[in-house]
Amino acid sequence: MIAAAAGFTAAAVAAPSLKDAYRGDFVVGAALNSAQIADRARSDAIVKAQFNAISPENALKWENIHPQPDKYDFTTADAYVAFGEKNHMFIVGHCLLWHNQTPAWVFRDENGKLLDRERLLARLRDHIRTIVGRYKGRIKAWDVVNEAVGEDGSMRPSLWYTIIGEDYVAKAFEYAHEADPDAELNYNDYSLENPAKRAGAVALIKKLKAAGVPVTTVGLQGHYSLDWPTIPQLDETISAFAALGVKIAITELDIDVLPPATKEETAEVTLNVQSDPALNPYGNGLPDAVQQSLTQRYGELFAEFRSRKDVIDRVTLWGVTDYESWRNNWPVAGRTAYPLLFDRACQPKPAFDAVIAAAQNPAR
Ligand code: XIL
Repeated sequence: MIAAAAGFTAAAVAAPSLKDAYRGDFVVGAALNSAQIADRARSDAIVKAQFNAISPENALKWENIHPQPDKYDFTTADAYVAFGEKNHMFIVGHCLLWHNQTPAWVFRDENGKLLDRERLLARLRDHIRTIVGRYKGRIKAWDVVNEAVGEDGSMRPSLWYTIIGEDYVAKAFEYAHEADPDAELNYNDYSLENPAKRAGAVALIKKLKAAGVPVTTVGLQGHYSLDWPTIPQLDETISAFAALGVKIAITELDIDVLPPATKEETAEVTLNVQSDPALNPYGNGLPDAVQQSLTQRYGELFAEFRSRKDVIDRVTLWGVTDYESWRNNWPVAGRTAYPLLFDRACQPKPAFDAVIAAAQNPAR
């Protein structure tokens, strides 16, 4: 299989590269799983040939890097940072504070009782200073707070919010800034393209900026579908945040072509919708018409990103090949998904060509 695997990736390696096509516009990133970090995935050659930024899909999340109160495990995170340095990539840290993939003990004392504000803040400060401090100057951008705003624009009632209060967001940014004053510090969220949620996030960022909190960037996760968000909706969203004086990053781009499993757009990772053959129509391959829609969609999105390159610093895809995408198992387990630019055989898809072409057209 080794020779076949090498053959699989040859086309992707020989293809024009995303990083060169957009050089001078923004860096183009990919999220890496643990096999890719260990340099033993079929898609490793694509990562190195195509991308000049990386994000860790899971390796730096609290449950992995800090599994117990007095135990940090840096094994995969160290390998991740070393991989990025060896390959001269812009290295992103994801994420310091989130309501998911965070162990239950974080919020509780030795007797299982919920912590009070001061103890939870102390724990958060220790976590952020330990991790950001360890990779100071090497991880260039941190997703400091992930998904603090709810769909209606109010603050999400997570344990962070209910125990500490709204200023938990400001505190997280302050702790990260203390630990690495030069790092870019990102507020990251999904569905900010929807007006209500966007308004809530705009109000939050405005308040943080007014209080001098060192937030430098807003990350639009970019878990999109073929028809949502519209390009005007996306463009308005970019403008709304840029007007606050922050940069924009597209942090987790992928495009869903499967039948929607939920009514509202969401990227809440704990969702688990019952399997149903009707939700998995392309198990034997993607019909040409859908492939074409995906191709056109990727092309128009990158044309939009390029037209906003003055404020967009980075566009990161949430994975490399369709085979590895989290979308195969979320929000429905065991589907065959087609969200990325490289297919299950590590070949560039027509959408890849559309993204390269968008870099060559005159900017709008
Ligand atoms: C996802 C990973 O891709 C999965 O492997 C994991 O099981 C769940 O989390 N928003 C985020 C990312 O900020 O961290 C999530 O990543 C996808 C949604």
